[in-house]
Amino acid sequence: MNILFTHIKELLQTRPKSEVKVMGDSMKDLPHIKNAFLRIQGDTILDFGSMADVVIQETDEVIDVTGRIILPSWCDSHSHVVYAGDRSQEFVDRLNGLSYEDIAAKGGGILNSAQTLQATSEEALFEQSMERVNALIQLGTGALEIKSGYGLSPEAELKMLRVIKAIKGTSSLKIKATFLGAHAIPKLYKTDKQAYIDLIINTMLPEIHRENLADFVDVFCEKGYFSVDDTEQILKAAMPYGLVPKIHVNQFNAFGGVGLGVKYKALSVDHLEILNQEDIDVLKNSNTIPVALPGCSFFLGIPYTPARKLIDSGMALALASDYNPGSSPSGNMNFVVSLACIKMNMTPEEAINAATLNGAYAMDISEEYGSITTGKKANLIITKNMTSYRQIPYHFGNNPIHKVMINGEFVN
Ligand code: NIG
Ligand code: FE
Repeated sequence: MNILFTHIKELLQTRPKSEVKVMGDSMKDLPHIKNAFLRIQGDTILDFGSMADVVIQETDEVIDVTGRIILPSWCDSHSHVVYAGDRSQEFVDRLNGLSYEDIAAKGGGILNSAQTLQATSEEALFEQSMERVNALIQLGTGALEIKSGYGLSPEAELKMLRVIKAIKGTSSLKIKATFLGAHAIPKLYKTDKQAYIDLIINTMLPEIHRENLADFVDVFCEKGYFSVDDTEQILKAAMPYGLVPKIHVNQFNAFGGVGLGVKYKALSVDHLEILNQEDIDVLKNSNTIPVALPGCSFFLGIPYTPARKLIDSGMALALASDYNPGSSPSGNMNFVVSLACIKMNMTPEEAINAATLNGAYAMDISEEYGSITTGKKANLIITKNMTSYRQIPYHFGNNPIHKVMINGEFVN
C-alpha cells in the first residue's frame, strides 16, 4: 500500500538518518517543510518534500491534509504502564497533607502497588495494562518503554515482564522492556536488603535472560531505596546479560547516582529533579542522555528537572511520561510537552525534539523512530487544523490530534 499525504501545512522533524539525537543549542531547531507531501510505502516512510516537487503517479491513496500538521509519533522512553489497580486513595492522602515519602514510609507507595499486582492474575494484568496502552496510542505515542518493578518477587517480576512481552507481541506500538526489580525493598526483606539484592542477581536476572524478557535494567537509586553501592552491584550483574542501564536517579536527593550511571554507560539517567554541578559535568562528557519526567513533578509538587541548565550546557534532553499509579498517573505526552514549555522553560522546538528523536535515542531505537526520515517507520501524528506546531504545547490539556498512524496504518 502506497499512501501519499498532500498539502501538509507543516511536516515536522524532517532529518537525515545520521542524526540520532539533538543536543544543546541545536534543540532549538525543529527542521520542517511548509506545504509538504509525505509518501508512505507499507510501514515505512518512502519520501517527502515540498508540494512543488510532488509526483502523484503510482499512488494507491492520496490524502489531502490541508491545514494539518504531521509529525513523528511521541517516543515515550520511561513508563510503568503495566500495573494493577490504582492509588487514588494515596492521592487523596497527599491532598490531606501526607507527602509521597510519608506514604512510602507507612508501607504504601510502591509496596502497595506490589501487593495488588501479586494478587492479580497475568491475564487480568495484561487486560488492565493493554487498555492503557491502547489509550496512549490515541494520544499519539508510537513507541513506549515499559518497566517491571511492581512485582518485587521472582514470580511477580517475571509475571510483569511476561505481560510486557505479551504487549510487545499484541500491540502495534514499538515496545522496549526494562527490568526494575530494584524498585523498592519488599516487606519480607525489610531488615535484609542485601538478601533481596542477591535474589535479584542470582534468581531473577538469570531467568529473565533465559526467557529473553528485558532489553534494559533499572534501579531506583534513592535514599530509603537503593544506594549507589546497591545499584552498582545490580548494574554489574546485569552487564554479562547485555542489559544496558536506564536508571532512576536524583528524584529527591543527589548523591552520586548520575556518576555511577555514566560509569556503567547507562543509556539514560531519568528524573534528575535534584541536580548538582558535579552531575552536570559528568553527564556532559558522556553518551548518557538525561530524561526529564515533568508529569511526576507536576503530580507530586516536587521541583522540575532543570532543563535549561542541561540544554544550555550543550546536552541532549529527552522527555517521558513516567506513567505510573503513584507519581504520574497519566501517559499523555501532549501534556508532557506542554508542561516542559510552561514549567521548564523549554521552547516548543526543544520540547518536540525531546519527545520524539531524543525519546527514541533514550530507548536505543532512533535509527528507526523519532523523525520524518526516509526508511524510518511510518509512525505519525496528524494534528487537528492549527496555525502552527506551537499550538501543541500552547493549548495545554487539549487534544491536538486528528488521527494517528502506526506502522503505516491508521489506528482508530
Ligand atoms: O518514577 N520513583 C520511582 N518510581 C516511580 C514511582 C513509583 C510509584 O510511586 O509507584 C517514578 O516516579
Ligand atoms: Fe519512573
